This record gives sequence, structure tokens and C-alpha cells, in this order.
Amino acid sequence: MKLTILGGGGFRVPLVYGALLTDRGEGRVTEVVLHDLDDSRLYAVARVLAEQAATVPDAPTVTATTDLDEALRGADFIFSAIRVGGLEGRADDERVALAQGVLGQETVGAGGIAYGLRTVPVAVDIARRVARLAPDAWVINFTNPAGLVTEAMSRHLGDRVIGICDSPVGLGRRIATVLGADPREAFIDYVGLNHLGWVRGLRVAGRDELPRLLADPDLLGSFEEGKLFGTDWLQSLGAIPNEYLHYYYFNRETVRAYSEVEKTRGAFLRDQQAQFYDEMKRPDTAALTAWDRTRAEREATYMAENRETAGAGERDADDLSGGYEKVALALMRAIARDERTTLILNVRNQGALSVLDTDAVIEVPCLVDANGAHPVAVAPLPDHATGLVCAVKGVEREVLAAAENGSRTTAVKAFALHPLVDSVNVARRLVEGYTEVHPGLAYLK
Ligand code: G6P
Ligand code: MN
Repeated sequence: MKLTILGGGGFRVPLVYGALLTDRGEGRVTEVVLHDLDDSRLYAVARVLAEQAATVPDAPTVTATTDLDEALRGADFIFSAIRVGGLEGRADDERVALAQGVLGQETVGAGGIAYGLRTVPVAVDIARRVARLAPDAWVINFTNPAGLVTEAMSRHLGDRVIGICDSPVGLGRRIATVLGADPREAFIDYVGLNHLGWVRGLRVAGRDELPRLLADPDLLGSFEEGKLFGTDWLQSLGAIPNEYLHYYYFNRETVRAYSEVEKTRGAFLRDQQAQFYDEMKRPDTAALTAWDRTRAEREATYMAENRETAGAGERDADDLSGGYEKVALALMRAIARDERTTLILNVRNQGALSVLDTDAVIEVPCLVDANGAHPVAVAPLPDHATGLVCAVKGVEREVLAAAENGSRTTAVKAFALHPLVDSVNVARRLVEGYTEVHPGLAYLK
């Protein structure tokens, strides 16, 4: 089984490789091909992987290339985790948005739109090449904004592209744990778009345990989302939102907090990662140790500003271990070995959420087997959530249209229609600001 990783020089690749190393079964991945545009990043990551594999018998082989077509040919699975414009681009996304008093987060609001506008054309090119060179491969998309990018790719690959995110899994695990349930036994009734979904129920042996949580302020205040959103607000909603909804429900506070920080998340990661890749150029660096230290610091500071505005304190130790690689591995196993399982994934709606059309990519529990991911039908969302989901899907569609027709006017429309962009004039200035700093947006005329 051959797995190709696009963005193979990316910082989180060792997480995926680490998960592969735990898989000893028949039909596991035996060959990993890393693709990246940057040789020195490939070299750095390959060094970490070599140290990870050192003590493991029959570890998957690792090769690296900067030739995309060569990387794609013969692949059974293709992970796409690219970052168009790099972390410098992410920092620019934040800076330009904050200068207009709106949010620059890489997946939510203006920043997500800017990132989407420069990523979609690249993702579409990859999808077209996959359709030609590896038509039977399954594409697992991690590239943010994951829902939008998956939808762009699905127009060329149909249901062979599946988007993943670890935030719904982490959320489900936290809720199950506070309820004293085994996360593996629980069905999480979650639906929405990527980074815009709600847990409405958690069923163990057919019984919904969520009402018990919502009725108990102590339990509710004891985990990440309870601390972030506050118990009163969760009780009012009657659901547990994905952590990224903090940017919606507390927009004013998060924008203020992000404007006041010395370094935005993107700027922090840009500098932190540059230092890591520099260290990796020195032959005497202990690669795995340096990577692990950098990873721990990255995870400890995740969403730090949000937690600070909410007075939520430090992250729980259990939440630091990620989970994204586990979702990826579980998905590959289910497909490659027909190991039937349920996972929350980003797939085409196909009627699961009736308010959106069948081709809209949504985030929803799916039954996964050798035939791919099949969304389960879910109950409709309440009006306030439906409103947000439809508005943001409408924005995503404008981003896809702008990427296709290259029109600045369409790009302005995408920004202007976003619920977190409060004026058409702001949208115009955002398009000006972003096209000035991003070469990847030169196609907008
Ligand atoms: C979560 C999100 C991902 C995001 C990751 C890292 O897992 O679901 O979409 O890529 O965090 O965030 P960071 O700010 O460290 O890049
Ligand atoms: Mn995510």
C-alpha cells in the first residue's frame, strides 16, 4: 500500500508517520512518498521520520520528491496537507484582516476566505492530476480551510476525496469522557460545516447522554468547550459547538484579543517553524527531540487568545495529544481493509443535511467501508445554526466561483457576504489588501 503525502515537508507529517508505525496489520501502508516544493523541508522531515523508524521493524519506507506527477503515480492513498503561501502567508492573512478590524484566522472569516482564494486553484490542479494519474486513489484532504478545499476537489474527484479534521473528534472525546462514557462506544450526533458544527447528542447504547451534561453546570464547566463558551451559553444553545464557533459567538472579544497580541498565531508559528527547519539544517541536531519540543510548544499555545478572553486557563493534558493522525489512520484502515467504522468527516452532503444541496461538502458522521464514506442522515439544525451554515456555504460558493472565473468582483462578494465581515467597504479594502501582499492572488482581475 502506497501513501503519498503532499506537503510532505510539513511539520505535522511525523504525526502521520508515527500513526503508521503503530499499524502492524495486513494491508497496512508499506511505502510513503513525501512530496514538497521545498527540498530542505523534505530533508528536515525525512530526518525526523528516520529517527521514528529506527526502533521499529518493517517500518514503511520513505522516499521524497519535488516532482508532483511522480509522487501521484501508483498511489493508493494521497494525503493533501499543503500550505499555499506558507506560514508567512498565514501571518499576512491575519495582519490584513486585523487592520480592517475583522478576524484573520486561517479558516474562519476574512482570513479563511483569503486562504481559500489562494489555495483552491492549487487544490484543483492537484485534483485534476490525481484524476488523470491515480484515478483509483483515495484523497484525504487536511488542507485548510478543509471543507471548502474538499468541495473544490470533489468537483473533479467526486466522493474519492474525503476531508478530515480532528476538532469534532476531540470534542466528542471530551464530552464522552466527562460523561464517564467510552468515546469508542459513543455515537456523536454532530453536524455542520468544517469548524462550524454542533454536537446535539451523544448516544451510548441508544441512550442520549447529552441532556445529563447540559443539566449539570459543574460537569459542563469542567472541559474545554465549557470553559471557552461558558456554561450558561451552552445551556441556552442546548448543544455543544465546535471550538471555532467561539470566533462567531464572541467575535468582538476575539478580534480585540488578536489585535492586542504581540504576535498573531500565524506570526508565532512562522517564527517558531523557521527556527525548527533551521535547526534541522545542522547535522548534529537530534531531529526527533527538536521536533517533539516544537510540537509540544505549538500544541500548548493552540487557541491561546480565545482561552484567555474566556478565562479558560491552560489546555488539559489530554487535549494536547492531537488526534488528527488517528482520524487519518482510522479512515485509511476502514477503506483499505473494509473495517466498517463511523467517523466524522467532510464529504458531499448527498441529502444528509436537507437544507443544503447534494454536492455541498458538510462535516457529518459517516459510515466508512471499502466503498468510501457514506454520510448518515441527521436531524435538521435549529434555525440559528442553519442560518450560519447556509451563509457560510454561500460564501464558500463565491470563493469557488472567484477561483474559477478569476473575478475580483466575485472575491469582494465572498468577503462581503461573510457574517463576520460587517461592511461591503471592508470587503473591498480586504481584497485590495490581500491582492497587494499575496502573489497567489494575482489571478484575480
Ligand atoms: C486543529 C484544527 C486544524 C488546525 C490545527 C492546528 O486541529 O482542527 O484545522 O490545522 O488545529 O492549528 P495551528 O494553529 O497549530 O496551526
Ligand atoms: Mn481542522
